Amino acid sequence: MFDRPRRLRATPAIRELVAETRVVSHQLVQPHFVVADDRADVPIPALPGISRMGSDVLRARVAADLELGIRTALLFGVVDQKDPRGSAGEDPQGPVQRAIRRLKREFGEALTVIADVCLCTYTDHGHCGLIDGNHVLNDASLPLLARQSVSLAQAGADLIAPSDMMDGRVRAIREALDQDGRTDVGILAYSAKYASNFYGPFRQAADSAPRAQGPKDRRTYQMDYRNRADAVREALLDQQEGADLLMVKPALAYLDVIAAVKAAAARPIAAYLVSGEYAAVEALAEKGLADRGALVHEHLHAVRRAGADVLITYHARAALQHRWI
Ligand code: PBG
Repeated sequence: MFDRPRRLRATPAIRELVAETRVVSHQLVQPHFVVADDRADVPIPALPGISRMGSDVLRARVAADLELGIRTALLFGVVDQKDPRGSAGEDPQGPVQRAIRRLKREFGEALTVIADVCLCTYTDHGHCGLIDGNHVLNDASLPLLARQSVSLAQAGADLIAPSDMMDGRVRAIREALDQDGRTDVGILAYSAKYASNFYGPFRQAADSAPRAQGPKDRRTYQMDYRNRADAVREALLDQQEGADLLMVKPALAYLDVIAAVKAAAARPIAAYLVSGEYAAVEALAEKGLADRGALVHEHLHAVRRAGADVLITYHARAALQHRWI
């Protein structure tokens, strides 16, 4: 006698019975790009199916997402008024702050709002911290990130998600939130964020690519994709500094990193299937080389299998609408 693994693959029902990983709607997070003009709904060419939205349109979109079962939204701001310090990010009347107030007023606890915190969409040089010549300054950037976080928490954000990769920012943000009495506002840290080539479409969406001033890329602060131990180090540091959830980003080329961080840390792990990963699926489907829904099903389960608890994906809405998961 020899063992026959095919017995458990014989029928759809048996396969369903023994599947080790499941993806359920409340694990999904839908990202949104928010602009000042309330009625704006401007498609992003690099991200088919995703648009920059004003708060009227966002409100309607989030209501529809809630109907589908998506309970968590991740918000990014997109603004025209940029300066060297990214001041627009901490404006209480900024597009994200306004949108959060409106969403929380309308949906309350039914909706969890995560606010991305970074300088790159608000700075005229496009870097995630302050710059001095060719340097991205670490400690000088922390108070700005902390102020932006407090302003988003005051608007009603449930979770603050710093994506800048400055050292010590989780502690600075935690302290600032606590000082403002926001002890209940959590931190989802982009802990292991790699200097990836898969962010291209996002930078078009958020108008956040590095420009003429400062270094030409983000490799002095985002991680080197040849390294895994560095991800564990970052995750444990963020945990120690007060992060409530830890993120690995991107997801698909980093499944080993998700597994390593999950094993080492004692926090829920989020994985971000980033813009380039989304666009790659769209391009394959567009060319007729693969079925879009099947690709999304495979990707989401792969990321769950690696150990992610929370899945951030531009495909969240489509996955539920078309019953891909
Ligand atoms: C901002 C930020 C980026 C992403 C999320 N927050 C881009 C970057 O670091 O340039 C990428 C998300 C995506 O590609 O979907 N710091």
